[in-house]
Amino acid sequence: MNKAKRKTIIAGNWKMNKTPAQAKELISTIAPLVKDADCEVIACVPFIDITAAQEAAQGTNIKIGAENCHWAESGAFTGEISAAMLADIGSEYVVIGHSERRQYFGETDETVNMRVKSALAAGLKVILCVGELKEQRLQGITPELVALQTKIALGGVTEQDMSSIIIAYEPVWAIGTGLTATAEQAQEVCKIIRDCLAELYGQAVAEATTIQYGGSMNDANAEELLGKPDVDGGLIGGASLVAEKFAAIVAAGSK
Ligand code: PGA
Repeated sequence: MNKAKRKTIIAGNWKMNKTPAQAKELISTIAPLVKDADCEVIACVPFIDITAAQEAAQGTNIKIGAENCHWAESGAFTGEISAAMLADIGSEYVVIGHSERRQYFGETDETVNMRVKSALAAGLKVILCVGELKEQRLQGITPELVALQTKIALGGVTEQDMSSIIIAYEPVWAIGTGLTATAEQAQEVCKIIRDCLAELYGQAVAEATTIQYGGSMNDANAEELLGKPDVDGGLIGGASLVAEKFAAIVAAGSK
């Protein structure tokens, strides 16, 4: 596998944090710290923060994304936001299938697939999250489970579409817990996902797709994780809310 064929992408996932005013402030603080990055830098922020974050990111190398989108183009879905709406305000990226959506909001592999397709149709780039629960890892079913999540999420997604897909491997037991997967565990599952992509789309697509690790990635462990051959970036929760920590991860991704 040739890592040089892929873009390293460091993306923040702010979750339900920061008001628009605070978003502006955080992006403005991060911007000078990451201006020389030799990797892609993204901040995925709450819907309400997107415009403020974009204003603050204008003229910088930080790209802004959303954290979810609905699968329908429009309609009677009170409280939801469509991919077309995100595209219209200039959001470039969207996180889909985050484990918190699966855990707390009834997201299934099937609805993840529908959301992925609607995001692609609207011209958004997708950060697709997959990952196992602690019990599933203990049961030894991580490889099958993650492969199945990946395959179902990508149902109907064409080879051409794959240039707009980033996959984030996020073991659920490592998210927000301070328990990071070891670099070996992260590598092992990122490789399983890449093999799955090779099976679905062929070797060239598998080698060109960025696969991130997420789950308590921070300034102390990023370099080791990102040093692994199949770990091409990070999806960062907690540490993305602290400018210096996020910038240090971006620096690790730039090596
Ligand atoms: P964490 O979150 O870095 O706080 O573990 C990662 C994520 O949920 O994407």
